[in-house]
Amino acid sequence: MAGRCPKEVEEEFIADCRVLPVTDLCDKYGKARSTIAEWRLSLYNDRKLFWYPGIRVGGCQAYDEYMEIEGDVMVISDLEIPYHDIVTLGYAVAVAKKFGVKKLLIGGDLLANDAIGYHAMRSDGTDASTSFSLADSLDAGKGVLQDLFEHFDWIGLIKGNHEQRGTRIRELGFFEMMQNAWEDIGDLEISYYKWCRAGQYRIEHPTYRKVPGSIARERAEIEDCSVLCAHTHGFSLSFTKNGKYQAVDLGHCTLPETRYYKTVDGTGPHPQWVAGFWMIRNGFLYGFPTEFTDWGFWLKEMRLDGGKKKGR
Ligand SMILES: [Fe+2]
Repeated sequence: MAGRCPKEVEEEFIADCRVLPVTDLCDKYGKARSTIAEWRLSLYNDRKLFWYPGIRVGGCQAYDEYMEIEGDVMVISDLEIPYHDIVTLGYAVAVAKKFGVKKLLIGGDLLANDAIGYHAMRSDGTDASTSFSLADSLDAGKGVLQDLFEHFDWIGLIKGNHEQRGTRIRELGFFEMMQNAWEDIGDLEISYYKWCRAGQYRIEHPTYRKVPGSIARERAEIEDCSVLCAHTHGFSLSFTKNGKYQAVDLGHCTLPETRYYKTVDGTGPHPQWVAGFWMIRNGFLYGFPTEFTDWGFWLKEMRLDGGKKKGR
């Protein structure tokens, strides 16, 4: 239950309640209808607001505590550690260094998390999934995050399908495990929402669609804003039919050649994966597909290894 209107916005909120409809109040304060209702009810009970609430509240939790990112940020997704692609990740850090971007958002699927996935139970040693326990995955994830924290001041993680194994209770338990395992490695913010906001952009780990760009355009139209989508492992920038919004497939940072289902059994209708990442800088989007970027131009005079810690 969200409870009371925060003191620092109380005066403004009371004034807004007199002139704005509930939908505008939701937009302005970034809160759900039920949270706004609870704010109004508490102010009514304090005799600060004349509003007849009429019906008693149910007292259920409202989900409006999603992550919000301010300023410039690098966006990567679908690392699926331990299958992560260190070349693409290295370029992402290098571009961040070059342009002084100190925040990193991981759009879900940080860990492959196969130990509690459906396929691992049947893989019988055909890939790395059975050799990585849950503890091994958390350890491997910690190592990669530590490497990323050598440059970034803040790292955010939203939920992908690989963080969403099994029942809700298992999912929340896994989030608690990540929180505990990685609490001391830096300013890491883990959100159990499958989406977050970065300025005018929404960054998500949506459902899968085969046609490149299609889920991002659909989501942009539904959410009425520009959307960056993880999960498809495709890479694209397109625009909604009304020409108002950008729709991005984020690419991926994993290694298809390490996956049995994608290579040995790779005869399905799904598109090939395209590795890469994105930068949001001064509100503009820049895409960096690993195999299609002129790195000599973007990273002129930069050393990818930063001159230390070779050979890992
Ligand atoms: Fe995914």
